[in-house]
Amino acid sequence: MKIGMFDSGVGGLNVLKEFIKVYPNNQYYYYGDTKNIPYGDKDKETLLKLSINIIKFFIEKNVDLIIIACGTISSTCIKELRNITTIPILDIISPTIQYLKKNPANKILVFGTKRTIENHIFKNNLTNVIEVSTPEFVPMIENNHVDTLIIKSYLKNYIDIDILVLGCTHYPLLINEFKKYLKDETKILDMGKILVNTIPLKNNSVSSIKLYFTKIDKVLEENIKKIIKTSYTIEQI
Ligand code: DGL
Repeated sequence: MKIGMFDSGVGGLNVLKEFIKVYPNNQYYYYGDTKNIPYGDKDKETLLKLSINIIKFFIEKNVDLIIIACGTISSTCIKELRNITTIPILDIISPTIQYLKKNPANKILVFGTKRTIENHIFKNNLTNVIEVSTPEFVPMIENNHVDTLIIKSYLKNYIDIDILVLGCTHYPLLINEFKKYLKDETKILDMGKILVNTIPLKNNSVSSIKLYFTKIDKVLEENIKKIIKTSYTIEQI
């Protein structure tokens, strides 16, 4: 199966990593729009333009399935994107919302980008949710420069939460930092892990991982190596 996956940068690679673990024998095409990162502070019109461009790229690649490995695009553009192609498109947020409906908790904290939080996709679908926009996290991750004090300043008011939802696909890269300020019982939800467990895919005999980024530099290449441990090709487009 040919699977196209995309995000603004390395965040969606956390989703790709989960897919490679469960379905190693597929052809993966990953598109990271690093030239336009971050997506989280952009308006709907801009996000639509950028993501339509990416969908067209996947149509040309003849993929069988498209996965929006980005919380921001999933919460902003899913309907419009589904209207432009007959290729099935999966978003990254819905399976996590379904999971939380089946597994409710008293206090759920969602961290996300400014756009995702302003869309209120979690609050509109669930109860007991506190949504918090954390715009500093994506640049921290992409620049490989974690600021513990900023992370602490966000979490210090929420140490009693039952579930922390990583509402942006970049955030699994900060999981060890988050754990420092949460009680041991707090469950941390990684949307990529939830998505991969909800869709039955066929493995086929061919396996390849092709990464495409709109801007490539040394820090990006280092970040990719930290996430994807199997062999891949990388190309700037
Ligand atoms: N990783 C993306 C998300 O899940 C985009 C982050 C950004 O570029 O602001 O929202």
